[in-house]
Amino acid sequence: MIVTIDGPAGAGKSTVARLLAERLGFRFLDTGAMYRVVALAALRRGLAGDDACGWVDLARRIEMRFEGRRVFLDGEDVSDAIRASHVTAHVRYAADNPQVREHLVELQQAIGRAGNMVTEGRDQGTIVFPHAECKVFLTASPAERARRRVDDLQRRGETPEFAAVLAEQRTRDERDANRPVGPLVKAPDAVEVVTDGLSLDDVVSRLAELVDTHLPGRPPCLNKAGFDTARPDTPRPDTAAS
Ligand code: DC
Repeated sequence: MIVTIDGPAGAGKSTVARLLAERLGFRFLDTGAMYRVVALAALRRGLAGDDACGWVDLARRIEMRFEGRRVFLDGEDVSDAIRASHVTAHVRYAADNPQVREHLVELQQAIGRAGNMVTEGRDQGTIVFPHAECKVFLTASPAERARRRVDDLQRRGETPEFAAVLAEQRTRDERDANRPVGPLVKAPDAVEVVTDGLSLDDVVSRLAELVDTHLPGRPPCLNKAGFDTARPDTPRPDTAAS
């Protein structure tokens, strides 16, 4: 079973997806980390952002590996390095590059072939795993997301200003939504979960329940309108147009 969790920056996808995967005994894939690894490698080689061919070539040559919570670039643990602000500022050159995306999407699909996985990103339920059994669109208000990002940066020893983080987030949201390939968009069959005011545990429990309703063999849970409440866009079989 594949569970996809898409949503904007700062919605808490990585933490939630990781905990959900642990609870389900599934593997976890952080696809944002893959774009970050490519950006880090390119920055280290001094590649210019507009050197699209250089970025693709590099993305295809590097070896990235995930081991539990750690991410490796050509054997080096870069789990912390890929979260630095200068990587965040340059990651769009990887994310906006159609050929880099094509390569990473292929890697993600290959990883998914082993089954039972929670994967998070922007395009997991739409482009990468359109047939995933359970799709979630995880979001929170802009202010809540920016507050979380400030806390995160402070934990890493940086001294961010809330207004600057909020402004940068707005730019990233626009970029994510308007990217010509793999834009952030809610899949029609994804369930939207807004995390404002919810504890981490609440969110993970809600998603675990949602996954449970999508397990194979479970009868659909129909509401009065005749729709499966876990898949609101899916008409009830006996009312579907023939
Ligand atoms: O979730 P994150 O901040 O670690 O993602 C890093 C960047 O990669 C961000 O700019 C969005 C982009 N991204 C993407 O385009 N597609 C994905 N599946 C995951 C992340």
